[in-house]
Amino acid sequence: MSENLIIAEGTKNEKYEMLLPQIQGVVCGESDDIANMANIASMIAETFGFWWTGFYRVMGDELVLGPFQGPLACTRIRKGRGVCGTAWAEAATQVVPDVDKFPGHIACSSASRSEIVVPVYRNGVIIAVLDIDSADLNTFDDVDKLYLERIVKVFDI
Ligand code: SME
Repeated sequence: MSENLIIAEGTKNEKYEMLLPQIQGVVCGESDDIANMANIASMIAETFGFWWTGFYRVMGDELVLGPFQGPLACTRIRKGRGVCGTAWAEAATQVVPDVDKFPGHIACSSASRSEIVVPVYRNGVIIAVLDIDSADLNTFDDVDKLYLERIVKVFDI
């Protein structure tokens, strides 16, 4: 495994196209979810410089904070609460251009302005969510949704 992440210079698409196979390469030899979530959070954060990039894992009827890059975050989120709990309850990626306009958004950090949350599936069951926060408005769109949903498919084993 290469120790160095290669980051494309160019468009968001080009960055994701460079990132995706590197993530697949890193996780393919490792079966531990925590180890893989840690490296994926690192690789996404290093590529894009997002404010907060990490995972919440499904533990019973709550999401519990998992590996992440960024500032301190809330540790437990109930199903249906906030952007993360909504992505889990509705089993659908949430793209939030302005967190202040998302009813029930949980503000772990006042610097967070926009957010995307992607459910992580294994055998048809949601086992976690990937949560990314940006310090800017309108950061995430269908390109992020497409590639992040492809990235989390590495857990569907
Ligand atoms: N904003 C999230 C909470 C998690 S933090 O952003 C890291 C939410 O509303 O679910």
